Amino acid sequence: MISLASPAKINLFLRILRRRSDGYHELASLFQTISLCDRLHVSLSEVDELHCSDASVPTCRKNLIWKAVDLYRQKSGNRFCVKIDLEKNIPMQAGLGGGSSNAATALWAVNSLAKTPVSMSELQAWSAEVGSDVPFFFSSGTAYCTGRGEQVQTLPSLAPQEVWIFKPKGGLPTPAVYQQLKVEDLIPRDPIACLDEFLAGKESYFNDLEAPAIQLMPSLTGFKAALSSLGFQHVLMSGSGTAFFCIGERKKSMPQEFKDFHQSACFINRRLIEWY
Ligand code: C5P
Repeated sequence: MISLASPAKINLFLRILRRRSDGYHELASLFQTISLCDRLHVSLSEVDELHCSDASVPTCRKNLIWKAVDLYRQKSGNRFCVKIDLEKNIPMQAGLGGGSSNAATALWAVNSLAKTPVSMSELQAWSAEVGSDVPFFFSSGTAYCTGRGEQVQTLPSLAPQEVWIFKPKGGLPTPAVYQQLKVEDLIPRDPIACLDEFLAGKESYFNDLEAPAIQLMPSLTGFKAALSSLGFQHVLMSGSGTAFFCIGERKKSMPQEFKDFHQSACFINRRLIEWY
């Protein structure tokens, strides 16, 4: 049996450049893995089985874990079955990449259990077929991602950073947020300049998906304002929401409205020969 952490990600900045003819959006984003993690326990088995600690998580074939395992079997020619236990801590429909991370972790796990494992770069290339955010998790945990998200440039680790994650009760489906986006309304920032500034310590946190998410769920405006009033330095929605991450010291204690989902975490990275 193999037990692996499956970390959440946040987008320190997320720029959407244009709508593509294939329905996806061209983006440029600085991704970072954090210590808020699910856990996967994976072993070879007579039949495929997936169990989850959270009953609201679908364990049927539409779970990205099965998409990843099926893809691995198809590409590698392996025929083995697996039993997977998923301990779920990362909230769903949050923009924290939980499903994508689980898929990447499952790929790493089944490859470790295979008699003739494939290279990490091959796994990463295959993983783009599972979802746009999956290849990122094969980086060191800090990466500049472009294309539909699947073009991954691993970067050196950023300075250690504590981060608070908050999520209101409701979530948002990613396709709906992208559909709501009006590219012509966005500030035309140059993402390479943003990255250079970020790496030089002049961090500018922004997310082009925040406005369309707020249009779909107007209560997010008040949620963000309430988080900002706690004294954090930066408060930003992650990915397509609805989780927010907060950086800097909190100056006030947490009122009741944030008791829904809140978690303190920190940036994490991995050595490329190991998982997280
Ligand atoms: O790649 P993934 O299956 O995670 O994408 C889910 C949906 O999110 C896509 O079908 C698309 O509607 C939207 N999306 C997008 N542009 C991206 C990534 C996702 O429009 N770069």
